[in-house]
Amino acid sequence: MVLGVGGGIAAYKVCELLRLFVESGHEVRVVPTTDALRFVGEPTWAALSGQPVATDVWDQVHEVPHVRIGQRADLVVVAPATADLLARAAGGLANDLLTNTLLTARCPVMFAPAMHTEMWEHPATRENVARLRDRGAIVLDPAEGRLTGADSGKGRLPDPQALFLAARAVLHRAGASADLSGRHVVVSAGGTREPLDPVRYLGNNSSGRQGYALAATAAARGAKVTLVAANTSLPDPAGVDVRPVGTARELNDAMFAAVSGPEPVDAVVMAAAVADFRPTTTAESKIKKTGGTPTIELVPNPDILAALTRAREADELSARVIVGFAAETDDVRRNGEEKLKSKGCDLLVVNQVGHGKAFGTTDNQAVVLGTDGSAVEIAKGPKEELADRVWDLVVDWPA
Ligand code: CTP
Repeated sequence: MVLGVGGGIAAYKVCELLRLFVESGHEVRVVPTTDALRFVGEPTWAALSGQPVATDVWDQVHEVPHVRIGQRADLVVVAPATADLLARAAGGLANDLLTNTLLTARCPVMFAPAMHTEMWEHPATRENVARLRDRGAIVLDPAEGRLTGADSGKGRLPDPQALFLAARAVLHRAGASADLSGRHVVVSAGGTREPLDPVRYLGNNSSGRQGYALAATAAARGAKVTLVAANTSLPDPAGVDVRPVGTARELNDAMFAAVSGPEPVDAVVMAAAVADFRPTTTAESKIKKTGGTPTIELVPNPDILAALTRAREADELSARVIVGFAAETDDVRRNGEEKLKSKGCDLLVVNQVGHGKAFGTTDNQAVVLGTDGSAVEIAKGPKEELADRVWDLVVDWPA
């Protein structure tokens, strides 16, 4: 693979990304811009990659590097992608080795932009990003947080581990196109918690891993992703807008806010484990055992998935596909079929939970039931693999 490095301060984080690639067995050719070398010098890239490092097309000319490096690559990752580099790539310039490489590469190209918020939001950058995405490049949205200096906002380079997982998701699909490019998808993940008092809650064992895998793989397939995350402690996936929530009602509000935003929603996936009931009241102070054995009265929570499908029926929501998950401990298939009908969604990913299955594990297996009568078995495998199969079905679902 090729790791293109732009001239931004975040270049130092890319050393860690390079290590992750090399340690997992990839052959990585680092192609920095001249300005990138002001931040991290050539010996660092050469030592970490074990490969020669060049910035312009006049080094080792007999090897025709400006053509060969791009042609040979299975994946090009550009991190940090500066405003200048995005502009040059969008304009098709070929004034250094990296831009030449971008023009000759026929493999997937993933840009991880990092810059100040103003530069990211400038219409020129917006246009350049849109052009690159239109051409099938994956341009991850930058993360929010502390920028260089005291300011903070959107523009941070996602963490190396998150970038590594995004790149791996692209490679995993063996050069398949960015087929979710231009689409906005909203995913829920994790498990809601319903407070009993200031320190206790009713909750469940969902880790959020399946929802995070769905969000990360969608971003790696070019989608704009909003992830509503209930009580998770996982790192933010690269390029994903993460909105943390606690209770089912907060999850409900965050989902409806996400699907009603300015960007039309193409697909909604409810992977979160939602508490069906909440305590009627939340004690303001800690419940003391001296008060005797408490009786906890519960009231139903909104069924968010059913509410989303009702909103679509009422033309208040345009989502082309709505996907539910069903966690079942017994009679998995029959319960799944009933749930597909009662929820009104298009696809239902049914998996067996309990007895060490699904919750908190890294592997998952499922059958995906469709309202068209389809039943697609997904064999046991990493949650990222299941996520990719679900997105395949979403992509193929008719409008
Ligand atoms: N779901 C939801 N709102 C709820 C409960 C569930 O949106 N209050 C969604 C889940 O995110 C999932 C699907 O509905 O996509 C099925 O969740 P599951 O817990 O399997 O089913 P329930 O509807 O809760 O039914 P039961 O617990 O009786 O099996």
